[in-house]
Amino acid sequence: MKDRMIYHPPFPKNYADEFLVLEKGKGSWVWDRSGKRYLDFSSGIAVNALGHGRIDLARVAYRQMKKLTHVSNLFTTEPALQLASRLVATGERLGGPAFAAVHFGNSGTEANEAAIKYTRVYALRTRGEGHHKLLSFTGAFHGRTIGALSLTPTEKYQKPYHPLLPGVETASFNNLNDLDRLDASYAAVFLEPLQGEGGLDQITPEFAAKLQEICHKHDILIVADEIQCGLGRTGTFFASEQLGLVPDIVTLAKPLAGGLPLSATLIPAKVNNIVHVGDHGTTFGGGPVTTAVAGKVLDIILNQDFLAEVTQKAQFFTEQLNRLQASNPSVRAVKGLGLLRGLALNLPQGSSLLSQILSDAQEEGLLLLRAGTDVLRLAPPLTVTTKELSQGCALLEKVLKKNLA
Ligand SMILES: Cc1ncc(COP(=O)(O)O)c(C=O)c1O
Repeated sequence: MKDRMIYHPPFPKNYADEFLVLEKGKGSWVWDRSGKRYLDFSSGIAVNALGHGRIDLARVAYRQMKKLTHVSNLFTTEPALQLASRLVATGERLGGPAFAAVHFGNSGTEANEAAIKYTRVYALRTRGEGHHKLLSFTGAFHGRTIGALSLTPTEKYQKPYHPLLPGVETASFNNLNDLDRLDASYAAVFLEPLQGEGGLDQITPEFAAKLQEICHKHDILIVADEIQCGLGRTGTFFASEQLGLVPDIVTLAKPLAGGLPLSATLIPAKVNNIVHVGDHGTTFGGGPVTTAVAGKVLDIILNQDFLAEVTQKAQFFTEQLNRLQASNPSVRAVKGLGLLRGLALNLPQGSSLLSQILSDAQEEGLLLLRAGTDVLRLAPPLTVTTKELSQGCALLEKVLKKNLA
């Protein structure tokens, strides 16, 4: 039987040098190539919201691939048209200006690059030169391409790549006073209503209210990056809905096409009206296969019963995590919303305990994520059962006891 791990594969050194080699998945479970089974609370970093091994999604992809796989952006297809219309209509949930159009891309970072371009072109054509600045927040993660990376103020990600995009600033997340810097020189503010990679902090209602007030005053566009926290992960379609944020633009990706690469940048009419042919484009974004699968994903996620179930399961999960915190003094806080949760741990300065916990959990058959420096991130599929949530928490308790007793 093959070893579960591979060491030093021919992948660039910007990745780890050892990997667990996974072979198949079903629901909340994955199997490695040696046959060992794992409960997957990582969901491919919050991508596999509907679980693994979905025959319904595979069938849609297969049928569409046989019919038509790619057409480029010189043409369009029924699946892309239908998906765009349905995504535009989701704007009603936010209670702000309706969305008018969707730009499709292939990844989260591309969705944010599109948003950077749309907000800058909007500022330029409505207000002229000198209104191009962008603001993001401490703890944010918006992607790895240079524009999105410039909005991601984590030193280790940015440091080797200076000079980054000019005119990008960082303010302190949830700090009301720090919003006072916003004036007419800014084109847009980018934020995750619930931060994923940064450590599961969410915006406060006061912060959302003040941000909106200042941005409306100067016509600065608010871009909600819902790439990780959107599409039902927190129990509402958009996390912004329950956090009092009314964005102008929303970016979506991760679970949109059930594990295939697809992103969406949702823009309002006032932005769409000033965009010219050729301002932006993509070869693969919004192809017929990914958009057909995404249509099926939306059929499932947009069902009220589905979102109500996510909320119910999230309540159960919260109880389990609170119990875990009560029994382990090293768990400082239970964070996050819905089925995107974090356990903030008290760890000795500079310790590698978080990595040890992840690797011990893997050994026990539980896949977890990290967020920031001291938070364990849990993102089970939205289709997880309460039994699986209990199983995961029991394994987690064992691993925490071993490492943090
Ligand atoms: C909130 C958020 N924005 C953007 C991205 C970038 O997405 P991608 O890795 O698909 O480019 C991520 C990825 O983790 C994310 O969590």
